[in-house]
Amino acid sequence: MKIFTHALLSAAILTTPIAIHAQTPVSTIAPTLAKTPPMGWNSWNHFARRVTEQDVKNAADALVSSGMRDAGYIYVNIDDTWEGKRDASGMLNANEKFPDMKGLGDYLHARGLKFGIYSSPGPLTCARFAGSYGHEQQDADLYASWGVDYLKYDLCSYGILMDAAATDHPDQPNIANQMMHDAYVKMRRALDHTGRPIILSLCQYGQDDVWKWGATVGGNLWRTTGDINDTYDRMATIGFGQAGLAPYAAPGHWNDPDMLEVGNGHMTVDEYRTHMSLWAILAAPLLAGNDLSQMTAETKSLLMNKDVIAIDQDALGKQGDRVQKSDEQETWTRQLSGGAVAVGFFNRSTSAVPLQLSLSDIGLKPAREIRDVWGGAHISPKKDGVTANVPAHGVVLLIIKP
Ligand code: GLA
Repeated sequence: MKIFTHALLSAAILTTPIAIHAQTPVSTIAPTLAKTPPMGWNSWNHFARRVTEQDVKNAADALVSSGMRDAGYIYVNIDDTWEGKRDASGMLNANEKFPDMKGLGDYLHARGLKFGIYSSPGPLTCARFAGSYGHEQQDADLYASWGVDYLKYDLCSYGILMDAAATDHPDQPNIANQMMHDAYVKMRRALDHTGRPIILSLCQYGQDDVWKWGATVGGNLWRTTGDINDTYDRMATIGFGQAGLAPYAAPGHWNDPDMLEVGNGHMTVDEYRTHMSLWAILAAPLLAGNDLSQMTAETKSLLMNKDVIAIDQDALGKQGDRVQKSDEQETWTRQLSGGAVAVGFFNRSTSAVPLQLSLSDIGLKPAREIRDVWGGAHISPKKDGVTANVPAHGVVLLIIKP
């Protein structure tokens, strides 16, 4: 893809690195946002490039009528392909699919929802629409004027600038990563300068171990991987691949294993239960990615399971992690407030397996209460263990109270 002139590249390279000092955080606003992982809806997984204003309004209406809003799903996020052309002053317009962005923001806010939008630090987004490169403050001001509450900032074509800088400056091995960090700091500061509290979602697919620095550049969440799709294999590769990242998440900044595929139709109900259970244990953002106006009762029950949401949104904000792994079975736990623990026993094989879990095996004492979130487990009368038949690609998810 040859879209940049040498002059443009040189201009990027000559940018002085932005200093980040541990004592003076990049943003005082960022840590006050996203105290629990953001919940809502994003247009990409289902609508992709086709999304229109009407689709977004339909999603908003469905969030309200289905009860999802009241269950916590409040962000309505337009992903890529809303962008139009810049005028002579550099001001960006939305394209013809989105005739009235301010009106759309008002529509969402009037329903108790929040407005999310998408851009790239590069000249072009991943779908090759206009990105924010060189227009960061102008775009941040525009978003604020529309009432935007959340920005997903997707690396896309900025990676080409980074590669070019690395090629031109072999003596500066870290120049590409430094440029990437700086690009996120620049947008965080531009957002803060608007005076509107706006969540910043980093999307650069986990490069340079983003979990180690995403919070210091003012990110509230950061994608840890490439894109999810609606298959068990991809969802499981991403979800189970999150082992070890727990220490990096905390209230205000979260690991993001990508948006949900629940309800998009290509996984079994057991696979979608695995998806929801794992994302909840991971304290992952819960951004539904299906067509909310066409949901089956089963999809609603998956997305709105109260216990799953309670695990995901637990106020302690401690991400869970894997504690046991054998062949194709994994046990993950997450510490919850009040001394409770969520336990997920996952069967990654293609046939059902019997589960005999004793709490002492995972370091827990007999429980006052064991809650079987999806149903089907047999809980010992002494509350010191459970037995179950765990379906192929399925899960037994428990909340254990001491
Ligand atoms: C990238 C992101 C996706 C989506 C698309 C839009 O692939 O990772 O989540 O935003 O771009 O073009």
